[in-house]
Amino acid sequence: MERTSIRLGGVELNSTVMNASGPHSAEKGEIYELTARHKGAVVFKSCNIAGLEAPDNLKNRGVEHFAAIARDLTPRGKPIIASVVGNTDDEIVKVATTLDRAGVKILELNLADDYVQSSVAPFASIGRLKELVGRVRGEVGAVIAVKVPPKLALEPRAVTDLFKSIRVAIAVCANDLPKDLQVDLASGTATGAPRTLSQVYGFYQAGEGLIDVVAVGGINGGRDAYIAHLTGAKAVQVGSALIKEGAGALGRIDRELEGLLAENRKTSVNQIIGQIRFGG
Ligand SMILES: Cc1cc2nc3c(=O)[nH]c(=O)nc-3n(C[C@H](O)[C@H](O)[C@H](O)COP(=O)(O)O)c2cc1C
Repeated sequence: MERTSIRLGGVELNSTVMNASGPHSAEKGEIYELTARHKGAVVFKSCNIAGLEAPDNLKNRGVEHFAAIARDLTPRGKPIIASVVGNTDDEIVKVATTLDRAGVKILELNLADDYVQSSVAPFASIGRLKELVGRVRGEVGAVIAVKVPPKLALEPRAVTDLFKSIRVAIAVCANDLPKDLQVDLASGTATGAPRTLSQVYGFYQAGEGLIDVVAVGGINGGRDAYIAHLTGAKAVQVGSALIKEGAGALGRIDRELEGLLAENRKTSVNQIIGQIRFGG
């Protein structure tokens, strides 16, 4: 058992570090390279039924492309997190069920993208969110994660209460920490008064330990990952660093996090999750 191993939504992962959906995760070659070079979960690019040419950030080859890769990798023991988009409720349910049947462990409903928000409006109200995600819940056996928009009109507590009631285990949230935040890793202390430092921290607090939070945004090194964990993240996703550096970025960040945990005499990342203190 290594320091960065974790259970996410009940699924055992060898590392808290994983790629973010999109960068380096659309083409078969990219996904197999991530699989070979990193011991943790692999996250697929968001897909819809038939594939998209636009918008640019959601270009994908369609759900069958990803389902075929999942059918190959799952029996080899690789935990797959597949990301779902669509512009109708029916499409989202269809994509989710196709990936579920292909053996993915976790389905990440990408409800954060403008493409989904402007068509399906999942966060228009708690009732609307319940209608859509509840329908997916009723059709799939996989663990469900929801990628939450960085700007959210709904209260985190209302969203986490709903997630608990319909068995959504994971919220993928923005790691939007203040740029000037100072944290002493040895004591796990942030300067200043207690406050909600990020969407990750807000969801961690609202979830009261019953919702696992994944941090996405600005994870470029082990220190970023360590601070995301202190502020409540159970796992971290890496986007831009992967574009800059290639697949090796994930292993590098994992090793840096492992080193910082050792330096601070932690035997498991679980010992720091949500343990941020304020003052100093
Ligand atoms: C080129 C590109 C493509 C992306 N495609 C997706 C996608 O398909 N699905 C998704 O949920 N997020 C997508 N994202 C957003 C990333 O998953 C992530 O949330 C974002 O890049 C922030 O993380 P970072 O600061 O590490 O880059 C994309 C981002 C980039 C830069």
